[in-house]
Amino acid sequence: MASVLVASNRGPVSYALGGDGSLDARRGGGGLVSGLSAVSSQDSVWVCAALGEGDREAVRRGVGEPGVRMLDIDPDVYADAYNGIANSVLWFLHHHLYDIPREPVYDAEFRRRWESYRAYNRAFAEALAGAADEGAAVLVQDYHLALVPGQLRELRPDLRIAHFTHTPWASPAYLRMLPDDIREELLWGMLGADEVGFHTWAWASAFMSGAHIDSATGVAEPSFPAGDRRRTVNHRRWAGPGANRTTEVKVYPLGVDAEELRALAYRPAVDERLAELRAEAGDRKTIVRVDRTELSKNILRGLLAYRELLTTRPEWRGRVVHLASAYPSRQDLEVYRSYTASVAALAEEINAEFGTEDWTPVLVSVKDDFTRSLAAYRLADVALVNPVRDGMNLVAKEIPVVSEQGCALVLSREAGAYEELREDALTVNPFDVSETAEALHTALTMPHPERTDRTKRLATASTALPPQRWFLNQLESLRGPA
Ligand code: G6P
Repeated sequence: MASVLVASNRGPVSYALGGDGSLDARRGGGGLVSGLSAVSSQDSVWVCAALGEGDREAVRRGVGEPGVRMLDIDPDVYADAYNGIANSVLWFLHHHLYDIPREPVYDAEFRRRWESYRAYNRAFAEALAGAADEGAAVLVQDYHLALVPGQLRELRPDLRIAHFTHTPWASPAYLRMLPDDIREELLWGMLGADEVGFHTWAWASAFMSGAHIDSATGVAEPSFPAGDRRRTVNHRRWAGPGANRTTEVKVYPLGVDAEELRALAYRPAVDERLAELRAEAGDRKTIVRVDRTELSKNILRGLLAYRELLTTRPEWRGRVVHLASAYPSRQDLEVYRSYTASVAALAEEINAEFGTEDWTPVLVSVKDDFTRSLAAYRLADVALVNPVRDGMNLVAKEIPVVSEQGCALVLSREAGAYEELREDALTVNPFDVSETAEALHTALTMPHPERTDRTKRLATASTALPPQRWFLNQLESLRGPA
């Protein structure tokens, strides 16, 4: 039993099953892993899904890490919930990615998948209910698990429950595309929490603006009191007769742990990769980007902007290299696969159009290679972070922290990181390829002292709320004054 519980789709460890039946544990990184390290593993439990055959085998054999509870969910239910709903519907809604003339289509197949999504969430709610001490604090993560707070509230009214969304939240007009009953179920799921958290005010406000319900399932009303920043949604569900219940809407902008990141970025393995990249780039300027190959990251428009830079400002030909790292993501889904293929194809096109015998304009690496990314962070003269919409985007915060000679940041105004970094970044409308090309030119020609000054300020802003503090602030707020 635990007094602090975390729930997320992807857990802190995963298992690879070897041909000889061996299980190889791989530990993941990320904000949540370092955040939870602030709490003793004796008092905490992390509930996550078994993601592949290795994880499932580990569950069957009873292999695991202390404080980690993996759920072996039926693979078909899991695929419907993760691919069919979380990554195809909720991800597209919150990032405004629908191709409106053709999508979305909410039909019987969608409803069948939604049932799986509900069952998958239910498996988490039951596991949490069974593992939580009386009055324990439960921190549920992300759009995969939006129904868990409501389901858990019904099972365990005594718990303090928070939900944190790492993505943006859909604007009210986008959210209203969902069938009404499903939209209400989604909102009631979230409103089962005492607190819902977001990385920025923009996403918190979007949630508030869309959180009206007035139907047979109940009434929920957001309240925006003048003068202070305490935002609540008021409702009666799960409250005693005549009582009101409120869900607080809060903002916790996740930052970077400078010490931990620098230690990672200045390892010998990264030094070696840096030497390789330096040999490839020569004395040319570098424009760096690092993303999962995923539509919201807007990699194609970034490449188009680079092409426009080389076209309209030919003085850069042969004098700049674009280092792009693209980690394949969610490749079970055709839309993500074809996006990945388009990125590789456009990079090749640019290389064919402008490349010379001794200059390859785009060096793209389509694989999960964090060591190369860290080396590229150190080398970067310019960082390009141009998502069409992004919950936070930690790459924008990591690069200034490890950059060796100061790095000019070209940043989309639709990235969550914009709220904290806009003053020292060169900000762009991510749809405006020409503006992005111009910003790349400005970044490349920024005088060195200005670049280093801006980088210092960017690094300070990026480290304002490192993961452990980010996590503890939520926990303290959830538990109330000690
Ligand atoms: C986003 C989500 C995270 C998720 C990550 C990777 O950043 O907010 O919750 O872990 O994408 O996505 P994946 O589908 O690979 O877990």
